[in-house]
Amino acid sequence: MTLRIGIIGCGGIANGKHMPSLAQVAEVEMVAFCDIIEERAVKAKADFGTETAEVYTDYKKMLAEAKLDVVHVCTPNSSHAPLTIAALEADNHVMCEKPMAKTSAEAKEMIAAAKRTGKKLTIGYQNRFRTDSQYLHEVCSDGELGDIYFGKAHAIRRRAVPTWGVFLDEEAQGGGPLIDIGTHALDLTLWMMNNYKPKFVVGKAYHQLSQTKNAANAWGPWDPDKFTVEDSAFGFITMENGATIFLESSWALNSLDVKEAKTTLAGTKGGADMNDGLSINGEDHGLLYEKKIELETGGVDFYDGAGDDPALKEAESWVAAILNDTEPVVKPEEALVVTEILEAIYQSSAKGEPVFL
Ligand SMILES: NC(=O)c1ccc[n+]([C@@H]2O[C@H](COP(=O)([O-])OP(=O)(O)OC[C@H]3O[C@@H](n4cnc5c(N)ncnc54)[C@H](O)[C@@H]3O)[C@@H](O)[C@H]2O)c1
Repeated sequence: MTLRIGIIGCGGIANGKHMPSLAQVAEVEMVAFCDIIEERAVKAKADFGTETAEVYTDYKKMLAEAKLDVVHVCTPNSSHAPLTIAALEADNHVMCEKPMAKTSAEAKEMIAAAKRTGKKLTIGYQNRFRTDSQYLHEVCSDGELGDIYFGKAHAIRRRAVPTWGVFLDEEAQGGGPLIDIGTHALDLTLWMMNNYKPKFVVGKAYHQLSQTKNAANAWGPWDPDKFTVEDSAFGFITMENGATIFLESSWALNSLDVKEAKTTLAGTKGGADMNDGLSINGEDHGLLYEKKIELETGGVDFYDGAGDDPALKEAESWVAAILNDTEPVVKPEEALVVTEILEAIYQSSAKGEPVFL
């Protein structure tokens, strides 16, 4: 069976991740492309579509006409919930980009729609499919770190503010680095800890560097007048079982300690960090040890191994879940908890007090 896939939003992440990955998966064909900027959908069809693929500027028309099995939602955050719910109700399985939604209320509606329609829903947390993440997840699942009672979720950039699209717009995105890249780091950390029961959250969001004019930035200076989201946000999360997580996120921070989509874990039997590749640490025979994991599978002349393409692994895993009728690796209920925690950090910052979940 060949799955008919439609893409809504043919911008950065659709071109950078979804479409090139799906193009390598045998069991699918991309037959419909929708973008409010028509030439983007036209180009996506030319680059990745079947010959007879259709181009749309209205997602409702696409959902009504294109006879799809699967829809990938790759639009700005504010439209994730309405587009996902519409696609589920049009009888499609949906992969929605991260963050799941702007608010936990919307995320809950998305889950309710998936339950109501019996369709699958997953969220685009491709960092789970990296070789280091997959290995560390096995280590954690096998109990090698013991009871993990402290985690750090890292999403720190020194100056890399995304200046395209609507990333700086509070209304369209619901927030800045916390909801944009903090979401990946927190997802990884919760997944490793296998702990989805937060109790309370203390957080603070900052607008300290957003008004800098002519800023040194990876993607060129930003426009201070358009920068309505935070530039950094930090949170401390206490879980029901007493475990704690420190979450750090920034697009612009005066710090040399830069790391993104990484987690650090400390458990009763051992710890792990992704600071310089993947390393596991612990105590053995009365001495401390650090184990470095070889992430390259190569070692043979002219052969570099299977390689690390988390985007392709994400696409393959998602298509397999649909075809085999199994649960996707990223469950919407897990992404909801990420959304709830991020929302609580923003609320705690606004109120100046802890927020209980
Ligand atoms: N997984 C990741 O690591 C990752 C990386 C980057 C972006 N993202 C997520 O992907 C989403 C999009 O980000 P991007 O960088 O691709 O942005 P982008 O601005 O490059 O692309 C978004 C596209 O959606 C189109 N669009 C907007 N509203 C639409 C609608 N109602 N119907 C049809 N098309 C519509 C826009 O015209 C644009 O072409 C965001 O939610 C972002 O958080 C995820």
